[in-house]
Amino acid sequence: MAIQIPAPTPEDQFSFGLWTVGYAGRDPFGDATRPAMDPVYALEQLAAIGAYGVNFHDDDLIPFGSDDAERDAIIAHFKQGLERTGLAVTTATTNLFTHPVFKDGGFTSNDRDVRRFAIRKVMRNLDLAAELGAKVYVCWGGREGAESGASKDVAAALSRYQEAFNVLGEYVVDHGYDLRFAIEPKPNEPRGDILLPTIGHALAFIETLDRPELVGLNPEIGHEEMAGLNAAAGYAQALWHGKLYHIDLNGQNGPKFDQDLRFGAGNVRGAFWVVDTLLQGGYDGPVHFDFKPARTESDAGVWVSAKACMDNYLILREKVKAFRADPEVADALAEAKVAELAVPTLAEGETWKELAAWPLPDVEAIAARGAGFERLDQLALEHLYGVR
Ligand code: GCO
Ligand code: MN
Ligand code: MN
Repeated sequence: MAIQIPAPTPEDQFSFGLWTVGYAGRDPFGDATRPAMDPVYALEQLAAIGAYGVNFHDDDLIPFGSDDAERDAIIAHFKQGLERTGLAVTTATTNLFTHPVFKDGGFTSNDRDVRRFAIRKVMRNLDLAAELGAKVYVCWGGREGAESGASKDVAAALSRYQEAFNVLGEYVVDHGYDLRFAIEPKPNEPRGDILLPTIGHALAFIETLDRPELVGLNPEIGHEEMAGLNAAAGYAQALWHGKLYHIDLNGQNGPKFDQDLRFGAGNVRGAFWVVDTLLQGGYDGPVHFDFKPARTESDAGVWVSAKACMDNYLILREKVKAFRADPEVADALAEAKVAELAVPTLAEGETWKELAAWPLPDVEAIAARGAGFERLDQLALEHLYGVR
């Protein structure tokens, strides 16, 4: 059954990193297949396909090493582009991974001068992020990690990671910026093993900070799946903790290198449940696509795949809504006792004492009852496959 793909609206808050559509196709084995993209051209094309916002690393906009005059000119030109296209800067982030100085990390490099430089680099881009109206500041620590055991004292590295967020939290508060940080976990790549590799590691870490309320998560579908985890379950737990500050949607086919496919490619079934989780959990932040247009494509293909990210989200959202509105699904949910899980296990005022005195039910009869989960899941698949 063909469905009408809705057009993107500003309420959808679809956003793209400059580095995503601007990916020139360089990989560890081959050179760039496309020319470098002018950031203002990216803004124009993003606006043309119906995107709402944009996200950038400091170095995506202002080449590393630019002097103050060059920096000011680039920012002025970019601001004109924002005004002309009406795009919002939803988010910003720092590149602490490309320059060779960061080969052993930024916040957790063994070299103290590198750590001090990394925090300074973030501080500088926080000023620009606040000036351009970003509300979220993403921190992806791709180089924070190691390839070997003795080279990195993990406990000390976590203390330095903690120190960096404490200093930066103070910086934001002292400047009165309306910005929150979002840590992006990833298990590996480019480092052999990265610190804060999963949503769970990052959640535990955040609670140790001076200002935990300023720090949440930016989970990426592909990164959770690289670790063999269920991305939707991770998003659900981040929402449960009130920590889903931002999202990176893309596609991945299981545990292998970071594929960064367009959203909706890769694990389609996983993508369906991610969209369902975001809708059910009331996520209302930017819907950011962090993908790399395949290096086989020309400029035209870049915009086909960027638009496809939004279209696939909108298609899956229609399917999720239809699944949730289907009376047969309501019946299957009831049969599977899904709502019963929201009922507390002990009644109001009940303690372990009343529980100890509770007349046991017929445990064998309960054990013999089927859960009905297969029917429910098949209904979801039929919605996804487009036969319902
Ligand atoms: C990756 C990461 C990055 C980050 C980005 C923001 O490719 O593994 O997802 O794309 O999201 O650098 O800091
Ligand atoms: Mn990625
Ligand atoms: Mn990402």
